[in-house]
Amino acid sequence: MENLKLVDAFTDFVEESTLPYRQMMTYYNCALMEVETKFKVLNEQFSLFYDRNPIESIHTRIKSQSSILKKLQKKNLALTIPNIENNLFDIAGVRVVCAFTEDIYSLVNSFLSQDDVRLIEKKDYIQNPKENGYRSLHLIVEIPIFLSDEKKWIKVEVQFRTIAMDFWASLEHKIRYKKNLSKERLDEIDKELLECAQICKTLDEKMEEIKTGN
Ligand code: GTP
Ligand code: MG
Repeated sequence: MENLKLVDAFTDFVEESTLPYRQMMTYYNCALMEVETKFKVLNEQFSLFYDRNPIESIHTRIKSQSSILKKLQKKNLALTIPNIENNLFDIAGVRVVCAFTEDIYSLVNSFLSQDDVRLIEKKDYIQNPKENGYRSLHLIVEIPIFLSDEKKWIKVEVQFRTIAMDFWASLEHKIRYKKNLSKERLDEIDKELLECAQICKTLDEKMEEIKTGN
């Protein structure tokens, strides 16, 4: 009996002390739902006008506890809620995979012109691919979530890719992060992956040409 009381007290203690963390994660989850809905709405409207869906898929994810910890350590920051909120901008992540590169720019324009979306940062790795060949358009935005008694602005990272860019990035991640590869093998892989990135870019351009009939 005495033991059970102790277990209850411990459970209460854990729940109480982790409440601010769980609350913050709930806010990020709500922000993800808001952003996902915005893209679903844009997809519907686009398909009404153009008779096709620009969005192939939307994935959302919350950064795992271990990734949060690793990133804070990398930045030499202690594990505190303000440190997470003020320094990690990809706790809530959305990936929007589009059919064509052109669709990405239309979606980004429509999304950023909404008056409850604040742009914090934009990285266009489509115009300026990374050295390894990575292409995608990244936004960090802030959007409001409406709670019972307040409005809170929450940061969300949105990555836009075509199917070909997503294909390359997914496989590159799987291949590149394999353990126990020699330096020579890694250099070889990097070279081959860069070639594949070029092929994906050509594919995107070709598909766009076929669509527009040029
Ligand atoms: P981190 O957020 O710490 O990665 O640094 P950053 O904010 O400078 O990175 P950036 O905005 O360039 O990229 C953030 C995210 O984009 C990563 O977490 C990946 O999801 C994706 N990404 C960036 N570069 C690559 C790459 O070379 N390969 C793959 N597969 N994904 C990448
Ligand atoms: Mg980042």
